[in-house]
Amino acid sequence: MTTLLKDIQFAVYHGTNHVAQQASYALDRRLNKPSQVSLLITDVCAARCTMCEMWKLQENDELSIDEWKRVLDDLRGWLGPFFLVISGGEPFQKRGFFEFLAHCRQIGIKTKVSSNGMFLTRKACERILEVGPDFLSVSLDHHTREVHDRIRGVPLFDRCVEAIDFLRGNDRGIVLGVATVIMEETCHDLVATGTWALDTLGVDRVLYQPLYPTFATDESMDPQWFERNPHWPRDPDALHAEIERLRAMKRAGRPVWNPDEHLVAMQHYFRDPASHPRPDECMVRYNAFNIDPRGDVMFCWTVDDRAGNLRRQHPREIWESAHAQQIRDKMKGCKAPCLLNCYRGRSLVEQVGLFRLFASRQGFG
Ligand SMILES: C[S@@+](CC[C@H](N)C(=O)[O-])C[C@H]1O[C@@H](n2cnc3c(N)ncnc32)[C@H](O)[C@@H]1O
Ligand code: SF4
Ligand code: SF4
Repeated sequence: MTTLLKDIQFAVYHGTNHVAQQASYALDRRLNKPSQVSLLITDVCAARCTMCEMWKLQENDELSIDEWKRVLDDLRGWLGPFFLVISGGEPFQKRGFFEFLAHCRQIGIKTKVSSNGMFLTRKACERILEVGPDFLSVSLDHHTREVHDRIRGVPLFDRCVEAIDFLRGNDRGIVLGVATVIMEETCHDLVATGTWALDTLGVDRVLYQPLYPTFATDESMDPQWFERNPHWPRDPDALHAEIERLRAMKRAGRPVWNPDEHLVAMQHYFRDPASHPRPDECMVRYNAFNIDPRGDVMFCWTVDDRAGNLRRQHPREIWESAHAQQIRDKMKGCKAPCLLNCYRGRSLVEQVGLFRLFASRQGFG
């Protein structure tokens, strides 16, 4: 099949599913398939970040690459040529990860990977040019080495910059992004960091992630967590103004990947994380299919009711089960003050924008 035909097939499939998803929202009944499939491929990570404690986790009963390949085949058969978002832990630390990426490419799954850059050596970047991912998001919290490396607890800045430089210079159509956590250490320089990433590093997209309770801890159980978290921004007025400048940057056409409504919600969130207004009802129960390193499936990483397990069940069986519907009914009306980017649905216009960016680079084959 030609690349153009494959692009059309991909776009038609996702357009149709988007319409079905809107109907699911309106009728509060599952009529669609998931549109955001996310995978934490490993818990393991060798960084020492101060706002995330996943590096303290041990490898625990994770699926092997052979098991993942079978899951990928099942997902591909069910969903068609979909887009898989991969995170962790540090994905490039998973044994056999390049084999996993190669399999995705072979069977027509588009991949986005978030990475701390630690393992992006020249050799690894050469493999990336061969097998993907199609979208690589590198975590860089600040445009200075000193601040970034202090946040990450180990020196990662130079490795990230060198990897982006190499990949951009050997353009095989990989979409490159920089992801920045908004926290006390970074919040006065959001525009400066984004502008540096776009203009000096030359990445395609920048994404901002509001500080959340420290990952891999039970900090989120404490409603007043932010009062005790040392990274919580202390001057909400200054942060409000900085996010306003980010909004202006986006309006001026710079590729800030957060939807504008998400940036506005963050302005409220950083004033009062417990009561920021949600612009719409959360609909993750009808669009997300989140998979953890053990193959457990959840609609939401926070409300972590397991809908099923991919070692034992086909993904479709999990999505359509009565148990999944019970979880959806329970999640309805969740008022958690959650603002993680991955939880927010994208409009069809934004999805088309991403399709077009990929199509212009390398198609959807
Ligand atoms: C958990 S990491 C996993 C991928 C990879 N290890 C990395 O750091 O890019 C996924 C993203 O979450 C961000 N992150 C980590 N701790 C966070 C927190 N407490 N609040 C918001 N985002 C956070 C990271 O910067 C990264 O961009
Ligand atoms: S943010 Fe990423 S790099 Fe840092 S500890 Fe967590 S998983 Fe590891
Ligand atoms: S925690 Fe967030 S993503 Fe999960 S159901 Fe509640 S609002 Fe939605």
